[in-house]
Amino acid sequence: MAKILVTGSDGQLGQCFKEVANEFSKHKLLLVNQAEVDINNKKKLSNKYEKIPFDLIINCAGYTNVDKAENEVADAEEVNFLGVKSLVEFAEEKKIKIIHFSTDFVFDGKLYNRSYNEMDTPNPINIYGKTKLSGENAIKKAKCPHTTFRIAWLFSPFGNNFIKTIIKASRSKNSVNIVSDQWGKPTYGIDLARALLSRIEHPDLFKYETYHYAQGPKTNWFRIASKVINLLGVNCNVSPISTSDYPSVAKRPLSTPLDTSRVEDTLALSIRDWEIALEDCLTNLQTNEVI
Ligand SMILES: NC(=O)c1ccc[n+]([C@@H]2O[C@H](COP(=O)([O-])OP(=O)(O)OC[C@H]3O[C@@H](n4cnc5c(N)ncnc54)[C@H](OP(=O)(O)O)[C@@H]3O)[C@@H](O)[C@H]2O)c1
Repeated sequence: MAKILVTGSDGQLGQCFKEVANEFSKHKLLLVNQAEVDINNKKKLSNKYEKIPFDLIINCAGYTNVDKAENEVADAEEVNFLGVKSLVEFAEEKKIKIIHFSTDFVFDGKLYNRSYNEMDTPNPINIYGKTKLSGENAIKKAKCPHTTFRIAWLFSPFGNNFIKTIIKASRSKNSVNIVSDQWGKPTYGIDLARALLSRIEHPDLFKYETYHYAQGPKTNWFRIASKVINLLGVNCNVSPISTSDYPSVAKRPLSTPLDTSRVEDTLALSIRDWEIALEDCLTNLQTNEVI
């Protein structure tokens, strides 16, 4: 039985862990939000540990607003680097394990002929990506078992994400314009949480410092939006536009599909396509009357 502290439990990914936790009742999951455990506050972390000791931290906490980060560099650094560093120090001190999440945005997106694998060199082009890379490097220095899962374009029934934005837009507008020249592979948070918890005691989980977890085939935002609207059966026209027609504060890498062979081979996982996961996500939203 693993005793796991999941930080950032009110965030999108944190809620995915909450959603599947009861499927893994042989493990003890202690889900804590920022008010309960601020990852920058070692005292709160220690207090939690003294009350209920855990042997692994899954860190779902993060500063994730890509555009705001451009003007809030210190805030992004505080959580994505200093917070992670603080967790690492705590994990080393207590001799426990740590699992962290990073992003495809550590890459510059200029590798067009194949997906990025874990050996490719990161080169972030925005502040969010830079702070996430600093966090990865902090994890790599840990003198306790550690690993980072790079994920991308996270979607789920929870929090704010592109799928929910499109659902809302399609209900209030007759047409939407969506960027079609940014390529990647999305990650369904529920699948990720389930996959990770199912392999939490796998002997090779900490064999590598970095894994990529995302769902093929490679796609773009326009295709995802079209699929959502098609599955919902709503009358809303989706038109492709280019990144230059949709200016944003932070630069986005143009092509960051993640190669997932390492995680699939090492942990004996078979990652399903994002379209199938999307159907599940919409069913979950409908069942819970969110849409
Ligand atoms: N979303 C994506 O598309 C995406 C893509 C690739 C990678 N990732 C990575 O996946 C991880 C989870 O992302 P997410 O989408 O679930 O993010 P999210 O929805 O923004 O949730 C992040 C959570 O972290 C909490 N938090 C912020 N600062 C904290 C602190 N100092 N101590 C404790 N908790 C703190 C936030 O609390 P408050 O709500 O109270 O601020 C929030 O609940 C992050 O590492 C992110 O970089 C996400």
